[in-house]
Amino acid sequence: MNVTVIGTGFVGVVTSAVLASFGNTVFGLDVDEKKIALLQHNTVPFYEPDLEELLAEQQASGNLTFTTDYKQAIENADVIMIAVGTPSAADGTADLKFVKMVAESISPYLKNNVVIVVKSTVPPGTLSVIDDIISPLTSASYHLASVPEFLREGSAVQDTVHPDRVVIGANSEHAFAVLSELHLPFKAPIITVKPESAQMGKYTANAYLATRITFINQIANLCEKNGADINEVIKIIGHDKRIGQHYWYPGFGYGGSCFPKDVKELAAYARSVNEEANLMVTINQLNENRIPELLNQYTELVGGWAGKKVAVLGLSFKPNTNDMREAPSTIVIPILQDKGATVVGYDPKAIPEARVMIASHPNVSFTEDISESVANADVIIALIEWPEITSFDFTSAKTSGKKQIFIDARNQHNQSQLEAAGYTYIGIGR
Ligand code: UGA
Repeated sequence: MNVTVIGTGFVGVVTSAVLASFGNTVFGLDVDEKKIALLQHNTVPFYEPDLEELLAEQQASGNLTFTTDYKQAIENADVIMIAVGTPSAADGTADLKFVKMVAESISPYLKNNVVIVVKSTVPPGTLSVIDDIISPLTSASYHLASVPEFLREGSAVQDTVHPDRVVIGANSEHAFAVLSELHLPFKAPIITVKPESAQMGKYTANAYLATRITFINQIANLCEKNGADINEVIKIIGHDKRIGQHYWYPGFGYGGSCFPKDVKELAAYARSVNEEANLMVTINQLNENRIPELLNQYTELVGGWAGKKVAVLGLSFKPNTNDMREAPSTIVIPILQDKGATVVGYDPKAIPEARVMIASHPNVSFTEDISESVANADVIIALIEWPEITSFDFTSAKTSGKKQIFIDARNQHNQSQLEAAGYTYIGIGR
């Protein structure tokens, strides 16, 4: 099939490369000439495991072409996928300006019976907005669909090749038939639904996962008050098949480009249809309060933050990405800075991005050498579970004779070993 994917962010680049690997002829289209020039040379402008290799392979095969030319990419397309960003507007709702711009730009070149798919996360009702833009601008017949994306950064290629399910939301048999055929090689259950259900399904999945994380963080707070260990509590509840063992890991709250934004958008959407979204409002608030509350809570234990050297390990929002959007480090570091600490941040991949996002804070430096970050630190905060951090030998790195506090923000490290090495250990919920 001829497929054009518009928008070359995480979702767009991964989707175009994977669809090309299944034998489709794919154009990846973006208006950003610099980005397209990089992609044409197999350089991905962000870090994502396995992606550059896949890109090189598919461009060499001739199945995948990156372009900025709408006419070239659209006139023969059987399927057009819109995968542009939908940032939050000032009132918390999804800002559809990029989706609308794309709808307008593709209209002059559409061929008959093309299927136009929205992959971006958008509120229910968005297909009508797109229809209203396209219909006056073309005489071609077209079909609209919503096919939400469920990939995670850091494992985006694997998640796209092996999805748990493919969701096709449409009102047309032609769209269901074409998109079911396109997604057959994914060997995943295909769920065909109304567009509104597809869009609500995407928000619901993310809102539920964010709620789950917030819930376990609340339970962790209670465990800290009574001597229970959150890891043992998770073991107990996880044996109940209705609950499960995974995606319960407590920490400094959820971050990234999706959960914070989607929870706020769902709350704003609910308000816009006169439904008070108390739960989502509360989840968002609890998550926003989490890091300031934890750092305040630790103040006494560390003997005040002022003048302390703090090693912040892990600056990206999660391992295997250099994405800093809503990363815990972007909240932790400025707070520590305000409290008078000196911060040495370590990350295996995200230092260039960290320098841009956290540059304006004095008394903050960055290093790609974890040993340099932790050397002589009064406090070590293991913030993100990068393998380079979880496998680091903190015992050998202990500065002898110095009181050093180890804050294990993701409960990934061995408490008894660290204590035996002389650290004062603080975990989450234990
Ligand atoms: C998330 C969803 O997991 C994807 O299914 C979805 O497609 C994506 O958003 C999206 O909407 O595009 P992602 O943001 O890449 O993916 O990352 P996750 O691995 O889900 O982690 C999100 C945040 O939750 C991170 O800050 C992570 O540290 C935190 N988290 C995750 C926890 O605190 N505890 C956990 O048990 C799991």
